[in-house]
Amino acid sequence: MTLTITDVTPAIGAEIAGVDLSRLSDAAFAAIEHAWHRRAFVLVRGQRLSDDDLLAFSRRLGELDPPPNQEKGRMSPPGYPDIYVVSNVLDAKGEPIGALGAGEAVWHTDMSYLDAPPDASMLYALELPPTGGDTWFCAMQAAFAEMPEALNARIRGRRIKHDGTYNSGGYLRQGVTATDDPHQAPGAWHPAVCVHPATGVPALYLGRRRNSYIEGYTRAESDALLDALWAHATQPQFTYAHRWQVGDLVLWDNRTTMHRRDPFDSTARRVMHRTQIKGSAKPVAYAA
Ligand code: SIN
Repeated sequence: MTLTITDVTPAIGAEIAGVDLSRLSDAAFAAIEHAWHRRAFVLVRGQRLSDDDLLAFSRRLGELDPPPNQEKGRMSPPGYPDIYVVSNVLDAKGEPIGALGAGEAVWHTDMSYLDAPPDASMLYALELPPTGGDTWFCAMQAAFAEMPEALNARIRGRRIKHDGTYNSGGYLRQGVTATDDPHQAPGAWHPAVCVHPATGVPALYLGRRRNSYIEGYTRAESDALLDALWAHATQPQFTYAHRWQVGDLVLWDNRTTMHRRDPFDSTARRVMHRTQIKGSAKPVAYAA
């Protein structure tokens, strides 16, 4: 097989063909890692991965991070606590086998409410609805590079509070007290603009919109500024909607992307298995 790499859009993404992720040479792994850092997400289609294959490939990128605490706690397949199931499917008792249901999942960076969020996440598509459920990716390095100076000046040197109360489906995380006050909400403070540890390229770091707050402003000023930043970052030239095929694996750089998911028909089945790679460091502020 010959490995090929093709840009997905000018701003983001590399599609890698000619590889079997369950039998990957060191050279092919190095090409994937390089593309992951430089293109923010990597798409590999046509895979046939067991959960053990998915874990073995994930471990080549670093130490695994346990799944996030979701509306029903940590949702994993039996015997695989490091895999996180994203699914609307119900088991024989009528309980969900995974998180996030069939609704929209809003833009977010995975687990940015932690002091050291995962460096990477990946999703592997096992079952898909006939339509809907596309996953969108947002290029936060390109969004920062093209940010108007007036906007940039208002966040320079500032930190943003990232909320850990609600997940991207809008569900309250298990055991967490509901609040819409960013000062009360559990979460972490991170620089508004972070530098990538491998490439040195800066990226806007927004996390998720709900309960977000920019230090040094009133709540109203912060909300207005966040609305402007989000409107800028999510413009079409920075985003890509991925239409899944069974056997697709998408690996994203969680430091330089946000993602969201379209809703889909709740009577259709969608089953995705996800892993995430522990953050090797806290996000580091970009010194312009
Ligand atoms: C996620 O946020 O990891 C879920 C995305 C998806 O279901 O496509």
